[in-house]
This record gives sequence, structure tokens and C-alpha cells, in this order.
Amino acid sequence: MVEKNIILSGLSGSGKTTVGKIIAKKLKRPFLDLDILIEETERMTIPEIFQKFGEEKFREIESKLTIKVAELRNSVIALGGGTLMRPQNRESLKKNGNVVFLNPPLDTLLKRLQGDDTRPLLKAEDIKEKKEKLKKLYEERINTYLKSADLVVEGDENPERTADKILEKLF
Ligand code: S3P
Repeated sequence: MVEKNIILSGLSGSGKTTVGKIIAKKLKRPFLDLDILIEETERMTIPEIFQKFGEEKFREIESKLTIKVAELRNSVIALGGGTLMRPQNRESLKKNGNVVFLNPPLDTLLKRLQGDDTRPLLKAEDIKEKKEKLKKLYEERINTYLKSADLVVEGDENPERTADKILEKLF
């Protein structure tokens, strides 16, 4: 049976990859992580792409691959935090997919991202600066996340419980 993709969106640290993998395992569907696909295709890490070519070029690469993966069916796809910000990405993903927005509290995101230096947009000298950057991204993006979502999951329950909640709501 041909089924729509399940697409996980939300800021860095929201659990897209962890929850996506659990859902894929439960449904016996392929799992795809867009950030990893970008790194494999470019043979560079995301910080390297940002550093060498800048954010705009990263977004172009991201869009090209997004439009490709959006053609899939029956897959579970974890996006990058900024993927839905481009209208053409949203449109292509929504054609064959149900978009889930994971929206845990900012402090949970912050805790999960403490010490992480793999997200160029959240690069910070200290935790206070990281919190400010996260808050700014959240404020810039929240409306787009909400309007793109078929399902919003609030709270910061464990990933297993979050995955079950999503499956209960979608099926
Ligand atoms: C980004 C989030 C990252 C990655 C890139 C840009 C963003 O993905 O795509 O660093 O714009 O929020 P994660 O959400 O998986 O951290």
C-alpha cells in the first residue's frame, strides 16, 4: 500500500532524528535524515559547508535534496530545523507527506544542545548566548512551523512516548 511520508520538523534538539528513527522502526519503513543526506552528498560536514560556502549555498543544497526526498513514499524523514522556511520545500514535502512539528520547551532544547558545536546558527560563547540565539530562531520560525504542520506535539516526554503519540494521532 502506498502511504504518505511522515516528516519530522522542529528546531535543533527537538528530537526529529531520535523520534523519527523510532517511528520508522515501529512501522518498518525507511528512515531518512536530511542533514545526513546533505553531508553524504557533499562529502562535507554541515559546519564545513557553512564555513566554506555560507548559509545561502547550504540552503540551495538543502532545497535540492528536499525536493528529491519529497518524491518518496512510505518513508520517515527528519528535516533540518530550517528546511520548512523555504516555501518550495514546504510545498513539495506536503504533497506526499504528513508534517509533524515537535515543539518541546526551549529549556529542553537548550539542555540537549549544551556543548554541541555542530549547528552553525547556534554557535555561541556561552549558554546565555546560545539561549538567545535559540529564542530568536524560535520567534522567527514558530508561525511557519505551525502553519506547515498537520500535527503539533508539545511537551518533552521521552522519545518512545512521543513516537507512540504521533502514531496514535496519525493512524
Ligand atoms: C539548521 C538546523 C540543522 C542543520 C543546519 C541548519 C537550522 O539541523 O540543518 O545546521 O537552520 O535550524 P537540526 O535541526 O537537525 O539541528
